[in-house]
Amino acid sequence: MRNESLFITGGSRLSGPVSIEGAKNAALPECVAALLTDAPVVLHRIPELRDVSTILFTLSDLGKRVVRRGTSVVLASDRPLSSEANAYSVRQMRASFLVLGPIVARLGRATVPLPGGCAIGERSVDLHLSGLRSLGARISERGSAVYVEADRLQGARIELAFPSVGTTEQLLMAAALARGETEIRGASIEPEVIDLIALLRRMGSEIAIEDRTLRIAGREELGGAEHSVVSDRMEAGTYLIAGAITGGEVRVEGADAEALDPLLRTLDEMGVQTRVEEGAVSVAGGGRPRATRVETAPHPGFPTDLHPPVAALLALAEGTSRITETVFERRHTYVEGLRAMGAQIALDGPNVAISGVPVLRGRRMTAPDIRAGAALVLAGLAASGESEIDGLDKIDRGYAAMERKLCELGATIERRSAS
Ligand code: UD1
Repeated sequence: MRNESLFITGGSRLSGPVSIEGAKNAALPECVAALLTDAPVVLHRIPELRDVSTILFTLSDLGKRVVRRGTSVVLASDRPLSSEANAYSVRQMRASFLVLGPIVARLGRATVPLPGGCAIGERSVDLHLSGLRSLGARISERGSAVYVEADRLQGARIELAFPSVGTTEQLLMAAALARGETEIRGASIEPEVIDLIALLRRMGSEIAIEDRTLRIAGREELGGAEHSVVSDRMEAGTYLIAGAITGGEVRVEGADAEALDPLLRTLDEMGVQTRVEEGAVSVAGGGRPRATRVETAPHPGFPTDLHPPVAALLALAEGTSRITETVFERRHTYVEGLRAMGAQIALDGPNVAISGVPVLRGRRMTAPDIRAGAALVLAGLAASGESEIDGLDKIDRGYAAMERKLCELGATIERRSAS
């Protein structure tokens, strides 16, 4: 429901186990990969999130038969694919733009709205489009959509100017059905991209990975596959920070410690104790953490999606921390909310300086986006008094059952109609 809020009474130390869902950012492209075949693709550990519902709607609108049973999804085909993606759902979520490559690879043409209505030539999808052009696609603009044609995509050597996650996924899927070999240099090697590659290999694709270079041997067709989505490192990281910020002890079950390594190193620098066990990562907070320096970067660097959550923790650290954001210009949407709670934050372009304060005060706030929303929830858990956070549709895009999980860890948190 649209006008619900989270009401959080801060101050409880969280403790206990919490289990992690499959990664949203792997689940989305993996659902899209089902467009590459008529055979059934069965995906397990699909998180129950708004973004997943959006992509499944887009795929069923394109002609896929989608059957969702709990956290498993079967994507099959019983009618021809359409070449026109639904404008409403693509505008809702940038990841829907990934359908472009697979549709053009299958049908030789595709019409897909530009995400958020941005124009060709602007930064946001230029790498996707220039990569598809290298594979032989002809691209033109039709109103606020792109129209793409190709008789058969041709393998090519592509060098990405930036290791864009979405572009790498888009080109991997398109190249899987191209004629000949494609080499993508400077590719993203985020764990979610590697997980998409695992699914594509199961579907019959031959893909080699060497540092940031991916080599894809194109196939005439791909088959069905069954695959379980890798665990969500952003969700896991958020609950580890929830443990640290409340001075509690939280065991995050199903977390992938290797994928979390950049965060674990940062927590270590802050003096927060972490422990890696088989299939779980635990955190033990206590006392004020120390200030540190964080610079976001493509994997294996510090993930930009954990920048806002870690900023909430640094707001309460001893000393002045610095965060440099190198991936997204608009990552600082959490700053206003944290400042309203009493955080001392100075912004200078991509640089954030956070002078830690001993206490934050609960406030009424709006979640600006998924990760900034998570940062405000984390701050609310540690703050004195009550926080009310609305704009929950944003948080629900990326976190399944957040208030239930936090409640089970001992938080005083409730979702109810806004006051
Ligand atoms: C994905 C993740 C998102 C994460 C981001 C960076 C999904 C569904 N979302 O988003 O949570 O924050 O990776 O790790 O997986 N860019 C261009 N031109 C392009 C494409 C991207 O300039 O054609 C720029 C973007 O504006 C941005 C940066 O590159 O500044 C990173 O974008 P990208 O890596 O593509 O992120 P997404 O795939 O959109």
